[in-house]
Amino acid sequence: MPSETGNCHFEANDENGYINLMSYGALLQSGIIQNGDLVEAINETDPDKIMPRPGFGTLTADQIAMIELWVAQGYNNNSCDSFCDTTAVVTYSGVIQPIIQQKCLNCHSGANPQGSLNFSTWTVVSAKALDGSLPDAIQHANGAVAMPPFGGQLPACEIDHFLTWIQQGAPNN
Ligand code: HEC
Repeated sequence: MPSETGNCHFEANDENGYINLMSYGALLQSGIIQNGDLVEAINETDPDKIMPRPGFGTLTADQIAMIELWVAQGYNNNSCDSFCDTTAVVTYSGVIQPIIQQKCLNCHSGANPQGSLNFSTWTVVSAKALDGSLPDAIQHANGAVAMPPFGGQLPACEIDHFLTWIQQGAPNN
């Protein structure tokens, strides 16, 4: 079973037969890049085989292409920071929403979203952006709940994008 956080592939869940994918080392050790399982799973159409499973988020065609490119380039332990365009004009649809889709919706969507927050609509994202809880969470502010809870803080460039968008009033642009 997936954990309460909607995450399946973490160390504590090994006993249930899930592959641990919480770190680069664990991912390499699992062998799923080398044997092709990773690329196969994200390209599956069979709902019993596709990753993530239905109800736990979907990858966009761009995200699948990015993973395939990363695998083809030799699956290096490099950072996403270099892909974050620091000069981008920050809009909700162009910059913020894709980050949320990629890094938040696997927990914050569906019938029982974590923290009772469904971030698939702008209304909820902007409300949390403007009440200060979202910027506190992604900046790991003192006393705030750190988001995302696993896998480290967002790259600085993505945090800056959120703060820029919030300074503009978190518009639906
Ligand atoms: C692995 C699951 C998971 C992911 C991924 C995740 N969250 Fe959360 N989030 C939670 C849980 C669980 C809570 C409730 C925590 C609590 O109340 O203690 C929460 C709560 C929150 C809250 C409310 C904090 C508060 O002060 O009440 C915000 C804001 C938030 N998340 C933002 C985000 C953002 C933005 C992302 C993506 C960058 C993200 N989360 C990714 C699981 C997740």
